Amino acid sequence: MRLILLGAPGAGKGTQAQRLIEKHGIPQLSTGDMLRAAVAQGTDVGKRAKAVMDAGALVSDEIVNQIVSERIDQPDCENGFILDGYPRTLNQADSVEAMLAAKGLHLDRVIEMRVDDDVLVRRVAGRFSCAHCGTVYHDEDKRPKTEGVCDSCGSTEFKRRPDDNADTMRTRLRNYYKDTSPLVGYYHCKGTLRTVDGMKPIDEVAQSIEAAIKG
Ligand code: AP5
Repeated sequence: MRLILLGAPGAGKGTQAQRLIEKHGIPQLSTGDMLRAAVAQGTDVGKRAKAVMDAGALVSDEIVNQIVSERIDQPDCENGFILDGYPRTLNQADSVEAMLAAKGLHLDRVIEMRVDDDVLVRRVAGRFSCAHCGTVYHDEDKRPKTEGVCDSCGSTEFKRRPDDNADTMRTRLRNYYKDTSPLVGYYHCKGTLRTVDGMKPIDEVAQSIEAAIKG
């Protein structure tokens, strides 16, 4: 199964991708995670992407198309994958289609997760994650079961993303509506789009996504 999770910053794409990995055993391809790894490693791509990401702007199509193209050639993507945060522009959408067509593949579903802006801002402002395994939490809605200890790996170190602040979030949201939301129409026309209510609790959103995959 080849799936796209489409939604604004904070819509829950990463959270739901984790559920889909567990259920379907296919990898999550998050361009945000790949770019943050490149920044942390100080690669050429990372150096070019850092300031852009810190400002909440979009990294160039050329860079992200290249990293996704290399990633989907890896053996773990043979049975499918979940694209999280990609494509994000019409150009990227055309590129992924061309990449897959060249391999005789196609996208099965595009799941749009719809969430109100004020909720998105609140989610992003409260987000933190385990510094060791990356499990995502929220100050109010999803705290570790034991305070200060990661549920998944037991680490006691947590971190927050530099782009999770009010100013940058405003830019990220603007970019979503300007550059990414046209993809809703793009995939609607192709018949692959399904929309779920991303305002519901995490388990309910996961159920809606499973229904959308089957339906
Ligand atoms: P990226 O890392 O992709 O960030 P994003 O799209 O802004 O999305 P987020 O990761 O912020 O949110 P999410 O939807 O995954 O929400 P989450 O599940 O964490 O991109 C970062 C940057 O990289 C971009 O700004 C850009 O610069 C660059 N970039 C990346 N891809 C690119 C591309 N293709 N082209 C160009 N540039 C690119 O949830 C958020 C919080 O809410 C968590 O605390 C979670 O616990 C909580 N939560 C989730 N679901 C629920 C729920 N149902 N109820 C209550 N709380 C919930």
